[in-house]
Amino acid sequence: MGSQHNILSSIFLIFLFLIAVVGTPSSKLYIVYLGERKHEDANLVTASHHDMLSSLLGSKEEALSSIVYSYRHGFSGFAAMLTDSQAEQIAELPEVISIKPSSSIPLHTTRSWDFLGLSLAVDQQEHSERLLQRANFGDGVIIGIVDTGIWPESKSFDDHGYGRIPSRWKGTCEVGQNFTVKDCNRKIIGARWYTAGIEPSEISIDYLSPRDKNGHGSHTASTAAGSFVHNASVGGLGAGVARGGAPRARLAIYKACWGIGTCSEATVLKAIDDAVHDGVDILSFSLGRQFNQSYASVHAVAKGITVIFSAGNDGPLPQTLSNDLPWEITVGASTIDRSFPTIITLGENLTMVGQSFYNATKDEGFKELVVIPSCFAAAINSTDVAGKFVLCGDTLFAAGSVPAGARDANIIFSQVVLSLEEAKAKGVIFSEFSLVAPLFEGIICVLVDKSVLWQIYKFGNNTRSPMVKVSPSYSIVGSRVMAPRVAAFSSRGPSFWYPDLVKPDVTAPGVNILAAVGDSYKFESGTSMSCPHVSGVAALLKAVHPEWSPAAIKSALVTTAYTSNAYGFPIEANATPRKLADPFDFGGGQINPDRAVDPGLIYDVDPKDYLMFFNCANSPSSNACDLVDNHLYHLNLPSVSISDLKTSLRVWRTVTNVGDMNSIYKAVVESPPGVIMTVEPSVLEFNASRRTHSFALTFKALQMVQGSFTFGSLSWCDGGKHSVRIPVAIQVVIQDYFSDAS
Ligand SMILES: *[C@@H]1O[C@H](CO)[C@@H](O)[C@H](O)[C@H]1NC(C)=O
Ligand SMILES: *[C@@H]1O[C@H](CO)[C@@H](O)[C@H](O)[C@H]1NC(C)=O
Ligand SMILES: *[C@@H]1O[C@H](CO)[C@@H](O)[C@H](O)[C@H]1NC(C)=O
Ligand SMILES: *[C@@H]1O[C@H](CO)[C@@H](O)[C@H](O)[C@H]1NC(C)=O
Ligand SMILES: *[C@@H]1O[C@H](CO)[C@@H](O)[C@H](O)[C@H]1NC(C)=O
Ligand SMILES: *[C@@H]1O[C@H](CO)[C@@H](O)[C@H](O)[C@H]1NC(C)=O
Ligand SMILES: *[C@@H]1O[C@H](CO)[C@@H](O)[C@H](O)[C@H]1NC(C)=O
Ligand SMILES: *[C@@H]1O[C@H](CO)[C@@H](O)[C@H](O)[C@H]1NC(C)=O
Repeated sequence: MGSQHNILSSIFLIFLFLIAVVGTPSSKLYIVYLGERKHEDANLVTASHHDMLSSLLGSKEEALSSIVYSYRHGFSGFAAMLTDSQAEQIAELPEVISIKPSSSIPLHTTRSWDFLGLSLAVDQQEHSERLLQRANFGDGVIIGIVDTGIWPESKSFDDHGYGRIPSRWKGTCEVGQNFTVKDCNRKIIGARWYTAGIEPSEISIDYLSPRDKNGHGSHTASTAAGSFVHNASVGGLGAGVARGGAPRARLAIYKACWGIGTCSEATVLKAIDDAVHDGVDILSFSLGRQFNQSYASVHAVAKGITVIFSAGNDGPLPQTLSNDLPWEITVGASTIDRSFPTIITLGENLTMVGQSFYNATKDEGFKELVVIPSCFAAAINSTDVAGKFVLCGDTLFAAGSVPAGARDANIIFSQVVLSLEEAKAKGVIFSEFSLVAPLFEGIICVLVDKSVLWQIYKFGNNTRSPMVKVSPSYSIVGSRVMAPRVAAFSSRGPSFWYPDLVKPDVTAPGVNILAAVGDSYKFESGTSMSCPHVSGVAALLKAVHPEWSPAAIKSALVTTAYTSNAYGFPIEANATPRKLADPFDFGGGQINPDRAVDPGLIYDVDPKDYLMFFNCANSPSSNACDLVDNHLYHLNLPSVSISDLKTSLRVWRTVTNVGDMNSIYKAVVESPPGVIMTVEPSVLEFNASRRTHSFALTFKALQMVQGSFTFGSLSWCDGGKHSVRIPVAIQVVIQDYFSDAS
């Protein structure tokens, strides 16, 4: 039945696309939010949208040609091409909660291997055999990926040995350019694509279909749920078995992002709406904030879908986090324990170690080393760098002034690499700046520590005809590497809009992640890469505990995350300077899937509570909101953040026992400095008739000092294997207007 429907639906989509692109000169794409649906039947929801537009625009035909997407499975709303004055008229209608132009959303794309230095291959060891096997590798779980599409020929999406598609699946395989129904299989069980609100220039460089030109979508999909692929590597580096977190989970592809990586609110909302209809279990988004168009994800969560977002790549400064809603799982990025050391030999005897993706079989002997004061194009043009290794003065001297991981540094460095490639340099030795892919194509890029860079600089500056030899890299995994660390680029909390939430929720590996791009494999770094790690793990948890709500899955991940590494050292966060990670760097900590499957207790949330807080946040003046204290710290989240503690404050939490029926948990309290934190009761006894307990957490400011956030934790310990830890962040304030973001 599929194919005719698919052809029709793609013709229809192309038709919509033309409308979206052509429109009328003064119209633009608006998104209208009408709140919860009034009808169970989705067709009636759409009919109500048509009616609303018809009466406004004067005719049914006008309405049909103006509407682009009808959102009807999760919430009620639509995207339509409207003039500003039509939008104003719609805004006046009583049933309209909000209307705003569709904005563009960036992908949280490629951040490279800047702090690759000391890393750790968590994805091999981390997902313990136990969880993987208990979850039967995620079989039966459906992960929806909202991204740039999919490359169906990749071995990671091979469906060999897969059973039937789950019967509850209601999605479809939309066809288009270089993508036929045959490109969906038992692994890629559905694929859809959306173009409204996307710049035509972005669409024209892409396939007009679910096929992934960019590569980002295939990378994230294969990280979450790629099948086992032996001998995956980049030119021999990082060789091993490539696989997703839930290698047997099914993939549902929603292509909402195009070209170099822009998505639109209209497309992302439509993807969520369809995913709710289609029956996905997990939704994974490696893309930017949807601002106030977040209602789609809360409705998905209310339907039992676990929604996972990347935190963003704008770290290490505070308040740079972009996906910060309480019902989402927001994922920061951390390093892994795999590195690619390369030996640098200076002159006869001096050797140092850097990191690179230089994958030749043998070194090419000594080459000249040139130190140039600046690596901007003009300076490179006026120096003979052909066949030589270049050390850029900029890299050396700018290092202190450019915040590590700053976006500009990234752009500057990619320009430097391009200029050096054009000038036929052999390679470049640098520090601090991060590389944008391609990692090693034209020239050899060697990342070194600042102190090493300084020594090479002195050697080059003080030696007549300095020579340097760079040996091919090799991979080391595991030993001697201090990992994980929060990656410098990983966006940090507190959330600008919602400081009464601890965000991000957790971190996961996001540096030098090898996954599918096109027919081969590539290293990429970013929270885009860490997000699908959590999506894969969430799929495994869902497979073992199908009854768990999205809040329970999040609670299990947060309360079992670890805050110290395998050597017992507290996890650090890369920044300048490096520091101990706090909850606004890594939430509960680094995910620990094997413990998450057996968390002991969970902090569950009734989705209605999310909706209540959300609706009050949207319209605080409504009657329902006057009656309740709608601060977000009253939500039953597995964390507490209070951004305005005056003298004292009490919050309540409820935990549900999902471990041994008869168990006794005792509270272990670590008060944030400057605050006294008490728990009442401090012992919880669970048995067959008592599965949940509520307790009060009271915070008293010790000194009335205008403070910044300080951090602590509450752990419920059963004396055995369970220690259910939640992070606590408290800021004491005297005056309302004071804010300290630093
Ligand atoms: C896409 O389709 C065109 C025409 O059928 C073909 O020439 C081209 O090789 C295809 N490209 C890919 C990447 O499959
Ligand atoms: C991996 O590649 C090596 C060398 O190319 C080969 O000997 C080995 O059999 C391959 N392993 C698999 C599982 O394909
Ligand atoms: C090095 O990597 C490049 C790019 O991935 C690849 O084309 C080349 O074959 C690799 N070289 C070796 C010796 O493996
Ligand atoms: C290198 O080391 C050798 C012996 O270890 C020594 O004789 C030689 O002088 C050293 N060369 C330089 C340039 O330091
Ligand atoms: C550098 O040289 C190239 C080729 O000769 C030229 O195209 C480019 O404009 C020059 N750039 C600068 C900044 O001088
Ligand atoms: C670099 O070389 C110049 C000129 O030889 C010298 O004055 C300067 O001290 C050197 N700098 C370093 C850091 O060695
Ligand atoms: C989001 O909503 C809040 C509260 O309603 C409002 O203050 C803010 O300006 C909105 N932000 C955007 C980006 O629309
Ligand atoms: C269960 O525990 C509660 C306290 O949490 C206790 O009051 C009750 O008596 C216990 N019931 C049984 C059957 O042990």
